[in-house]
Amino acid sequence: MDTNPALDLAALARPSLTPVLGRYFETSWSHGAGHRLYDTDGRSYLDFANGIAVTALGHHHPAVTAAIHAQVDRLIGPTGAVGYAEPVVRLAGRLAATFPDPLDTVFFLNSGSEAIDGAIKLVRRATGRSVIIAFRGAFHGRTVGAMSLTSSSLNYRTGYEPLLPSVYLTPFPNVYRDFDGDEERATRVAMDHLRELTEWIAPASGVAAVFIEPVQGEGGYNPAPIPFLRALRAFCDEHGILLVADEVQTGFGRTGRMWSFEHAGIVPDVVVVAKAIANGLPLSAIVSSRGLQTRWGKGAHGTTYGGNPVACAAGLAVLDTIEAEGLVANAAARGAELSAGLRALMADDPRIGDVRGPGLMIGVELVRDRATREPDPALCDALVARAADEGLLVLSCGHDHNVVRFIPPVNVTADEIDEALGIFGRALRSLPARPDAAGA
Ligand SMILES: Cc1ncc(COP(=O)(O)O)c(C=O)c1O
Repeated sequence: MDTNPALDLAALARPSLTPVLGRYFETSWSHGAGHRLYDTDGRSYLDFANGIAVTALGHHHPAVTAAIHAQVDRLIGPTGAVGYAEPVVRLAGRLAATFPDPLDTVFFLNSGSEAIDGAIKLVRRATGRSVIIAFRGAFHGRTVGAMSLTSSSLNYRTGYEPLLPSVYLTPFPNVYRDFDGDEERATRVAMDHLRELTEWIAPASGVAAVFIEPVQGEGGYNPAPIPFLRALRAFCDEHGILLVADEVQTGFGRTGRMWSFEHAGIVPDVVVVAKAIANGLPLSAIVSSRGLQTRWGKGAHGTTYGGNPVACAAGLAVLDTIEAEGLVANAAARGAELSAGLRALMADDPRIGDVRGPGLMIGVELVRDRATREPDPALCDALVARAADEGLLVLSCGHDHNVVRFIPPVNVTADEIDEALGIFGRALRSLPARPDAAGA
């Protein structure tokens, strides 16, 4: 595809495009093909960022592109409020079939935040309870409801008080940072905090739901320990509290299972999905039992664009491709290779404090000192920039902004994993170690 090297989009954007939106790179992008993004100078980058876990099948995927073209020619929509369109109905059935019982009913919306807001409304109205509990360091989105459950960065909350009332945040079991790798202790302590909250501040009988990302995304690629997810499920069952899994970033095979809650063998009451659902077109969904959405009530929630037929046609192609090409298993296998490679780098470089995460959702935490785990955000920034210079796109995350996250496409190949490891290793080695950095 032709590129236009004279096109400096950052300069063109300056007078009129909002300065509010944060950007990882100031690059002017021309186009994407497969697992590569191309800038307007024609340079190619191996894309292990994927628009933050969105283009999980890569760019311009032929099946997705064909499905979009076909549906654009037939019916763009919107149709939700006026009747039915075939891709919307078919995707609801296909998506529901990827979930265990009793999760069989799908409400389509446009974005992750919007679906989290919808889920807040669902759990409140269906239970008749108002309290929502979420976890410190979580990211559930930017709309006022979702933001009220979000604390991965103070900037996301600053200046917006009063937030949604009756929302309480409890500590997340951050196994690396706070518990020295001890999942059982992390589970015990986090469950104690949760029980204390319901014994002192907000009685369990008034709690509508607990919202959790099975692997915290923006907060630093922190997996919730499996024993914790099981204990949380039991706690919710004991008190009639709904458990909401935010699978916006973790879903669609990313963690080596179709849904990351499957690793723990639990079934949430509500699951929120988005991002990879339509490989780049705006679409999200709230999935629950039919009983729960019946209790929510007809007309209790609505949307103009949610469940757009074109986005749903793309969603069908995404599910077809994941199933036909065995991409959940591919994510598990390639993820193991990437993890092993990153652990090998960690063995040689004390600036890497931790490598973690299931499947293809891998965080590399950078520290100034392994013993104290003091975060090194400057190294993280420099490494992300240097990797991009060398042709690999990875992103940062974490409350302390010191975790490099790898989010490759779920159909990534073993050769591309090798290529990324080579570039990342070279980028790390090219950055001078701090003279006082302690080894482990
Ligand atoms: C776990 C999680 N939930 C919700 C959201 C919000 O999604 P959106 O940006 O589509 O509103 C995100 C976005 O990064 C996310 O990672």
